[in-house]
Amino acid sequence: MTYAAITGWGKCMPSAVLSNADLSTFIDTNDEWITSRTGMKERRISHVSASEMAVVAAKRALACAGLDAKDVDLIVYGSCSNDEQVPNSASGVQAAIGATKAASMDVNTACTSFLYSLSIATAMIRTGVVKNAIVIGVEWISPFMDWDNRNVAVLFGDGCAAVVVQATEKQEGVLGEQLGCIADARQTLRVRGMGTLYTNRNVTSGVTEWDFDGQEIFKRAVQGMVQASQAVMQKCGVTPDDIDLVVPHQANMRIIDAVVSRSGIPMEKVMLTVERYGNMSAATVPVALAEALEEGRVKPGALVLMPAFGAGLTVCAHLVRWGDRVTPLAESDAALPPVTKSALQMVQDIRATKTAGREQSTKGLHEPVFIEQR
Ligand code: ACO
Repeated sequence: MTYAAITGWGKCMPSAVLSNADLSTFIDTNDEWITSRTGMKERRISHVSASEMAVVAAKRALACAGLDAKDVDLIVYGSCSNDEQVPNSASGVQAAIGATKAASMDVNTACTSFLYSLSIATAMIRTGVVKNAIVIGVEWISPFMDWDNRNVAVLFGDGCAAVVVQATEKQEGVLGEQLGCIADARQTLRVRGMGTLYTNRNVTSGVTEWDFDGQEIFKRAVQGMVQASQAVMQKCGVTPDDIDLVVPHQANMRIIDAVVSRSGIPMEKVMLTVERYGNMSAATVPVALAEALEEGRVKPGALVLMPAFGAGLTVCAHLVRWGDRVTPLAESDAALPPVTKSALQMVQDIRATKTAGREQSTKGLHEPVFIEQR
């Protein structure tokens, strides 16, 4: 039987740090509130586009796997912050890394986009459609963040990581997954101002407002991730004791706490990045996975559980069996260009652009008729 092993990994984190103290210079918030309610201390702000981060992460993952870009058959780009609608972002990565024979697709399930992309690549490898794939989780959220809304502005950050997935006869890679979507809660997280529903409504693209029902998302996310984790463990015939490491989506420290304790897994087995990076949406799980490998927390043969949720509300949990190799075969010298501004300055620039955009939007943000209202 063919499996789909994860053989390479690489992250690309922008270097500019936005601290809780920085946020409190322009919104009514403070370090104590953010830390106690979310577990976050800082997040990164990118000075380059999402696909530029993705190119660096992909090159690092390829070097790690010892794979030539020309041998890549598939690139799956998981994100909800694409550079453009047309052409897709995966094709941009393909062109930049020289993966000339690859098929390339974008997948958007918000924060679960990386894991849904991993499912797609795994299924295509296991069914013999492709042999070698790159799966990317990337977000450049800062340009469309509603920076003056303290309910959301403190929660998110930018980042990227990628993995290489390859056909193998060994029982490695995704052993099973549970995917789902709690669509009756889709209105709990909506970014207004991006998408065709807003065209011809005098809305300047990118001048966004976020609908966000944090408490409802919290509740649904915990239920959804616990159910998905239990379902995938049952499907694969494993118990919480068999899990060596949990690499969860990191939207809030309290959500992670609730999910692992209800799943019967101790916190010592959980890889955490939420304090340093906040919620990077699709980038969160692969960045945490790459860092777990860098820190030696993934042992050869380890069983890794990856539960996540995202807008939609999409939910999932993946169970991955790691292979023998937990160190890179080689390192890439790919890197981002140097940053010339502080994270706070970049955020202030975005705020200024949005203020100007709002003034041009004669009617402000409109009330389109959403599908669930028809
Ligand atoms: N600083 C200070 N005060 C704040 C801030 C802030 N940044 N944000 C909200 N508050 C205030 C509120 O206005 C409210 O004040 P009030 O009582 O005077 O009205 C008070 O803090 C309490 O707000 P709650 O909503 O009750 O706070 P809660 O404990 O629920 O925490 C949070 C809010 C952190 C958003 C939590 O609900 C949460 O984590 N929700 C889920 C996270 C999430 O949805 N992340 C994104 C998911 S999307 C994804 O990952 C795909």
